[in-house]
Amino acid sequence: EKKYDYLIVGAGLFGSVFAHEMTKHNKKCLVIDKREHLGGNVYCEQKEGINVHKYGAHIFHTNDKRIWDYVNQFATFNNYINSPLSLSKGKLYNLPFNMNTFYQLWGTKTPREAKEIIDGQIKEYGVKSPKNLEEQALSLIGKDIYETFIKEYTEKQWGTKATDLPAFIIKRLPVRYTYNNNYFNDIYQGIPIGGYNTIINGLLEGIETKTNIDFFEDRVALESLADKVVYTGKIDEFFDYKYGQLEYRSLRFEHELHDVENYQGNAVVNYNDSEYKFTRIIEHKHFEFGKQDKTIITREYPESWDRGKEAYYPINNDRNQDVFKKYKEESKKSKHVIFGGRLAEYRYYDMHQIIASSLTKVEEILKIEV
Ligand code: FDA
Repeated sequence: EKKYDYLIVGAGLFGSVFAHEMTKHNKKCLVIDKREHLGGNVYCEQKEGINVHKYGAHIFHTNDKRIWDYVNQFATFNNYINSPLSLSKGKLYNLPFNMNTFYQLWGTKTPREAKEIIDGQIKEYGVKSPKNLEEQALSLIGKDIYETFIKEYTEKQWGTKATDLPAFIIKRLPVRYTYNNNYFNDIYQGIPIGGYNTIINGLLEGIETKTNIDFFEDRVALESLADKVVYTGKIDEFFDYKYGQLEYRSLRFEHELHDVENYQGNAVVNYNDSEYKFTRIIEHKHFEFGKQDKTIITREYPESWDRGKEAYYPINNDRNQDVFKKYKEESKKSKHVIFGGRLAEYRYYDMHQIIASSLTKVEEILKIEV
């Protein structure tokens, strides 16, 4: 008889939701994380009374009422609506691309005028079968929007020239012919009052957790504690990189405390131009309509990745997908291990998708057991 039903490796959203649901079903869970805190990438650090999104700006949004109700068990959400700005060639523009953006760019006032310009530029610069990201963007949206908002930003993000990036990175470039600056189209959106830690604490209440524990430092002993392991770390690391290393893009965050109440007047300002090495500045207090005397801003610098850095964005090219497939096949053989979350699935997931996939996994397991 093992001490726990589940050893859960990783206290991010996937692991925390899994632990919460299984505990409700009288399973005994131990959650470990190698970081010094719980919450994974949604973790916020409190400074000067401000919740600092330590691993990048997190805005919750979903169309799924079930997921919205689920998170609302643990926190009340405010009515924050994400409406980023973009500083491009010295001027501020509204995002996402909408009638405000077009007015600022061309002075067009009606949808018909704006559409005429965009369609005209697509005709002029677009190509039938785009061979790279630049050609793809020009074919989807034309020259002005591409050059003002996409080219330099994307080159910073990937550290590669737009003409050397694959076309598939950009599948669609939605434009909106209304004066609507709401970045997301989802029905539900907001920031949890009290920050994301409130949700994590709610999920993990009454559950045994241990931080500063790396699964790989004591793998055999840790595995022997539980009947099953839920693994939410990097899948290649689990198999000791035997098929090679999966590649990521990383980010570096530069946090700064300013002795002013309001630094940029908005939570998110993108910096398109290449003269800035960062891609955006986040002013955290605006996520929660904060009234503190001081403010904390974060500059976000895209970076190349190596094993010593945080893995943020999977690089979904053919090589990595092939390598991932091998690990995925291998993972099916480890019957006592459940793989889940963004690192084990080598995929970018939003928070609502991670919660949904964790709930689905729990349901699948409980169905088999009864
Ligand atoms: P997560 O990475 O959170 O958790 C995995 C945990 O496992 C980590 O805590 C890690 O330390 C731990 N771990 C790994 N290996 C281990 C080991 N060997 N031993 C012990 N512990 C180990 N989504 C959204 O909906 N809205 C948004 O605005 C954003 N914004 C955003 C910005 C940026 C920059 C990124 C990169 C991502 C977002 N997201 C987002 C996505 C969101 O961050 C994501 O969906 C969840 O945090 C994923 O939760 P997981 O539990 O899968 O991973």
